[in-house]
Amino acid sequence: MPDTPVAALILAAGLGTRMKSTHPKVMHPLAGRPMVAHLLETVAALTPERVAVVVGPGMDAVAAAVAPHPVCVQAERLGTGDAAKAGRGELDGFAGPVLVLYGDTPLVSAATMRAAAGACAGGAGGGAAVVVVGFRPAGDHEYGRLVTDDAGALTRIVEAKDATPAQLEIGLCNSGLMAISGEHLFALLDQIGTGNAKGEYYLTDIVALAYGQGLKTAVVEAEETELMGINSRAELAVAEAVVQTELRARAMAGGATLIDPTSVWLAHDTVLGQDVTVHPNVVFGPGVTIGDEAEIKSFSHLEGATVAAGAVIGPYARLRPGADIGVGARVGNFVEVKNATLGEGAKANHLSYIGDATVGAGANIGAGTITCNYDGFDKHRTKIGVNAFIGSNTALVAPVTIGDGAIVAAGSTIGRDVAADALAIERAPQEEKPGWATSFRQQRQAAKPKK
Ligand code: UD1
Ligand code: MG
Repeated sequence: MPDTPVAALILAAGLGTRMKSTHPKVMHPLAGRPMVAHLLETVAALTPERVAVVVGPGMDAVAAAVAPHPVCVQAERLGTGDAAKAGRGELDGFAGPVLVLYGDTPLVSAATMRAAAGACAGGAGGGAAVVVVGFRPAGDHEYGRLVTDDAGALTRIVEAKDATPAQLEIGLCNSGLMAISGEHLFALLDQIGTGNAKGEYYLTDIVALAYGQGLKTAVVEAEETELMGINSRAELAVAEAVVQTELRARAMAGGATLIDPTSVWLAHDTVLGQDVTVHPNVVFGPGVTIGDEAEIKSFSHLEGATVAAGAVIGPYARLRPGADIGVGARVGNFVEVKNATLGEGAKANHLSYIGDATVGAGANIGAGTITCNYDGFDKHRTKIGVNAFIGSNTALVAPVTIGDGAIVAAGSTIGRDVAADALAIERAPQEEKPGWATSFRQQRQAAKPKK
């Protein structure tokens, strides 16, 4: 059955003072992307007719993060009710269910959004004018309490700061997500006042207004794991843990082995192929794709990297953006790869920096090899041919090309191109003084005062 046409209004203008940050709260990342981006992705699953995001003045970073969705500016932060009013221009004339979402409640599932929209007037089969998604949080918390009448109908939401001790005992709380009929939304918002502990326009007051006017209200319940609000760094960490648990489960369900799932950190877009093995303590930043049968060993850090089938990475490897590791290639301990391609079966097994480089198939990069890609002003490329052999402790001063099959002797500093199949050696000639060590030891021994 196709979804009921919905609109979504995301409130993201708050300062997030409890985060103690110079960045807007909704820009704090979860699994490598701003929390508001998680919400937008879930909203997209409902193919909404309209989406708008309410931001504060000067919140350009948020506007950029939510583009191409339009933003509406809430001129002054006068509360969630006032923020919702800012969406009027974008939602004008939309009569179906409007999902009002809080940017700091980013883990709501599409199923819960659908359930709220489905229970709302304007949705298929009629419904309530105001639907609130409720949950029952464990432990101490500051969530608004859902107050019901004797018949169990939702009469109002009371904020923790305004609640009586008896109301604070109510288990069912406001997640912040509501579905409000577009027919009534702005008329109700216009009636919200500021008679409360914070002197703000509370969106939550819309419930009492609707109920008082004989409009139907309803509650849809869901789990705390998807409805927790993020107001502090501690709550951000709890949400991150929830997201990671989900991503790890998804990776394993997709056919990857995570030997110790809880020590593997994934990004929202990490792609692990079939029969990939990830050892304990691996961190995936955004933009990583790992091919089938590849192995990522412990203490590796990958970001913006592509690893082809059967490659082995780590332990202790660092793949930075633009690292493209070929089929069956190897990147070993203390090797950093950035903006570089390693061809099929190429090996860089120990202690190297491979940056702005192309390494041909089957090439061997010896321990301690450094591509000297930066001259303090510009980056330059190093090209290493197919089956080339770079001896240990070589400095390749870019721009430079090593031909196919060429050998570079260990310890060389190479600043000029090397032809295919040639040997390049750049080393001071070795001197040898027979017996020198023996006479050196005898002299020093003789000079030492006797005990
Ligand atoms: C709010 C609810 C509370 C609910 C809780 C769920 C109100 C009055 N209270 O409290 O019932 O249990 O969320 O997490 O709504 N925002 C604006 N402009 C503003 C103020 C806030 O855009 O002027 C945005 C914020 O960016 C945030 C969201 O609205 O994304 C919620 O604001 P916040 O201050 O976090 O409300 P809570 O105190 O958490
Ligand atoms: Mg909040």
